[in-house]
Amino acid sequence: MLRVSLDDPSDLGEWRGKARALLLAGISPDNVDWGGGGLFGGDDDIPPPRNGAAPAVPRDFLNLANTVLAHSDPRRHAVLYRMLWRLTHGEKGLLAIATDDDVAWAHTCVKQVNRDMHKMKAFVRFREVAVDDGTVYVAWFEPGHDIVTRVAPFFVRRFTGMRWSLLTPARTAHWDGEQLTFGTGASRADAPSGDTLEDLWRTYYSSIFNPARLKVDAMKREMPVKYWKNLPEASLIPELVRDALPRMQAMVARDATVPKKKFAAWQKAGMDLPEGSLSALRQQARECRACDLWKPATQTVFGEGPDDARIVVIGEQPGDQEDLAGKPFVGPAGKLFDTALAGAGIARNALYVTNTVKHFKFEPRGKRRLHKRANAEEQAACRPWLAAEIDRIQPAALVCLGAMAAQAVFGASFRLMEQRGQWFDLPDGRRAMATVHPSYLLRLPGEAEREAAYAAFVSDLSLMQDVLV
Ligand code: URA
Repeated sequence: MLRVSLDDPSDLGEWRGKARALLLAGISPDNVDWGGGGLFGGDDDIPPPRNGAAPAVPRDFLNLANTVLAHSDPRRHAVLYRMLWRLTHGEKGLLAIATDDDVAWAHTCVKQVNRDMHKMKAFVRFREVAVDDGTVYVAWFEPGHDIVTRVAPFFVRRFTGMRWSLLTPARTAHWDGEQLTFGTGASRADAPSGDTLEDLWRTYYSSIFNPARLKVDAMKREMPVKYWKNLPEASLIPELVRDALPRMQAMVARDATVPKKKFAAWQKAGMDLPEGSLSALRQQARECRACDLWKPATQTVFGEGPDDARIVVIGEQPGDQEDLAGKPFVGPAGKLFDTALAGAGIARNALYVTNTVKHFKFEPRGKRRLHKRANAEEQAACRPWLAAEIDRIQPAALVCLGAMAAQAVFGASFRLMEQRGQWFDLPDGRRAMATVHPSYLLRLPGEAEREAAYAAFVSDLSLMQDVLV
């Protein structure tokens, strides 16, 4: 048995380096102890590579491994190595076998880690601390898994202009306005408690607390009691719960306060929608002549997915490959979308995937067809199809990829980079969320920038689990 240990048990680069060396040396999973040498012995040397090139490892597996490694289960290194071994020893299609024990276990880990990340994003509360040269914001949080390095980019995006430190028992993250660094774990005593910000937050929370939506069990599930001690607003909960009924009665007596104006006009009643079932709509859309985009295009690219999907994902417009295949998101952006979904632990076949505009718009350039953005009239001409798809499917939530889809759902004032990655309640009772379009990630110039943006994209997509569970 070869003993191997890792300095940082949740780091993909380190695990991958050792796993690769073991694989090249032909050491089977049964002969590796990932617990390392322990107190009284070091690691064993991994034998030199046998003949042969390094086997190709699918990108999907690396994405999956990256999330699983953040899980607290000590078996994760061994299970991942067994999966890697199987993938490279005749079981290329392993990841597609959802019933396989290893695959199912890994997906459960991904779900739990993503949920933990979601909770951290929702429940971290920074407290203001005055220091010599200004203000620093400090937060204490106790996640269930080692997720700090994975969640920190989200807080960088959210609080770019602040200096902050995020303290957890396993590690800490620090942002100085320019650079993100990580340190070893902290203790609760390192984080300040109680200040004016907390009072502000309590006032804010009691004003947004909606008694008509009060479901104590769901609240405990969403905001588990273990997080309450770090939340200034939690001290208000018993009082708010007690007063919920009278407050709800008062709310019902008043006019609705939902800011309907903010949302796109087409979601209000009054638009004539094409009739018939979803498959009838698909047939009718083939003959659509509401704008001129149909003329040079190969075909209408209608949405695809279950007709009772809980989530409708809305992209922008089909590209070259979608136009030829007649299916949404099958080209390079679609492939990246699929990979990111897998990283977020979401099955694409649970989603209905469609576009704001259903025809490819392009400019011929020699033999190539260069993508052109559909203009406002073309987007408006296509709106009844999108509205009808949503009407027939009746999803619980909409997810918009890119600014065109986000503005179609939320209205022209929606600011994607500021408002992405959070659920909003629509006037029709659905939730909606927007994130970047996968083709934005493909266009980013630097690798580091692309990796950070990709991690943020996966993290936004993982919010869909709130609706799919
Ligand atoms: N981009 C989109 O917005 N939709 C597609 O279907 C493909 C690329």
